[in-house]
Amino acid sequence: MHKIKTVGIVGTGVIGSGWAARCLAHGLDVIATDPNPGAEERLRVKVGNAWPALQTLGLMPNANPNRLRFTTDLEEVCQTSHFIQENVPEQEDLKRNLHREMDALTPPEVMIASSSSGLLPTRIQADCRYPVRVVIGHPFNPVYLLPLVEVVGGEKTLKSSIEKAISFYRGIGMYPLHVRNEIEGYISDRLQEALWREALHLVNDGIATTAEIDDAVVYGPGLRWAIMGTCLTFHLAGGDDGIRHMLEQFGPALKLPWTKLEAPELTDSLIERMVTGTQQQAAGQSVTELERLRDD
Ligand SMILES: NC(=O)c1ccc[n+]([C@@H]2O[C@H](COP(=O)([O-])OP(=O)(O)OC[C@H]3O[C@@H](n4cnc5c(N)ncnc54)[C@H](O)[C@@H]3O)[C@@H](O)[C@H]2O)c1
Repeated sequence: MHKIKTVGIVGTGVIGSGWAARCLAHGLDVIATDPNPGAEERLRVKVGNAWPALQTLGLMPNANPNRLRFTTDLEEVCQTSHFIQENVPEQEDLKRNLHREMDALTPPEVMIASSSSGLLPTRIQADCRYPVRVVIGHPFNPVYLLPLVEVVGGEKTLKSSIEKAISFYRGIGMYPLHVRNEIEGYISDRLQEALWREALHLVNDGIATTAEIDDAVVYGPGLRWAIMGTCLTFHLAGGDDGIRHMLEQFGPALKLPWTKLEAPELTDSLIERMVTGTQQQAAGQSVTELERLRDD
């Protein structure tokens, strides 16, 4: 593999722009493409919005937002990049066709990663000539601040490709977690979805508002989760005897119908309640203003 100097970003929405900002802050060149009219301007604005937080964290030598190039030509991205990160909408057919196209245009030694949140890499790589270099590199929003990236290989992915992806992500300050078994939703989104599902039920059943649900995370478990995950947190909840005592004490509650497991129907009325609730929480602040608050 070439030394990675130029990273190709295919799809420059929330996640693609986040990758671009992270790579630029690490002193790399970025070449990006997105067919959406106005995509270049939106990408440059998003990178600009991310830059103050990245400056606070410390930029790598030669880091410069001007090292971002935009093109409407996918082939140029594929021919110029030393590592490609795809970030188009989460639709299997779209990704699968695009990966076939990128694979045909990209030299075989160049890694191609997908930011998919839960699709199976075996299916995304299915129509590629060189599927061995295709991996999932699933990041978390905002990609320029959060270190976690789940790395998942498909049936045809080489172990050495997983290692190359892990090494690249480490080099841009990330914490790569190798998901050793290929499953839909990988690890972290399965956990996130379980929580999200219950939040939707609590709103749907009129038990709590979106603000109350968020308070129930932000002032308590969320602060613990920033330091320890569920397992180690519950080890401490068991006192001196740890998780064994915790399981004895709270294990029986697992049989109570506390959680619903099945997702609720996303009816118009539930969607309306989620939207109205979160807009009230936003209290007139735009998404850009809230992003700045979060980054600070
Ligand atoms: N939003 C998140 O929190 C999040 C987190 C982790 C992973 N992801 C994953 O990242 C991927 C992108 O999600 P997003 O939230 O950035 O979506 P988004 O809608 O913000 O951006 C998608 C972009 O892809 C562009 N696009 C569509 N077809 C394209 C094509 N053929 N070539 C190039 N660009 C194309 C669109 O114009 C759009 O700008 C998805 O796979 C998603 O599951 C999202």
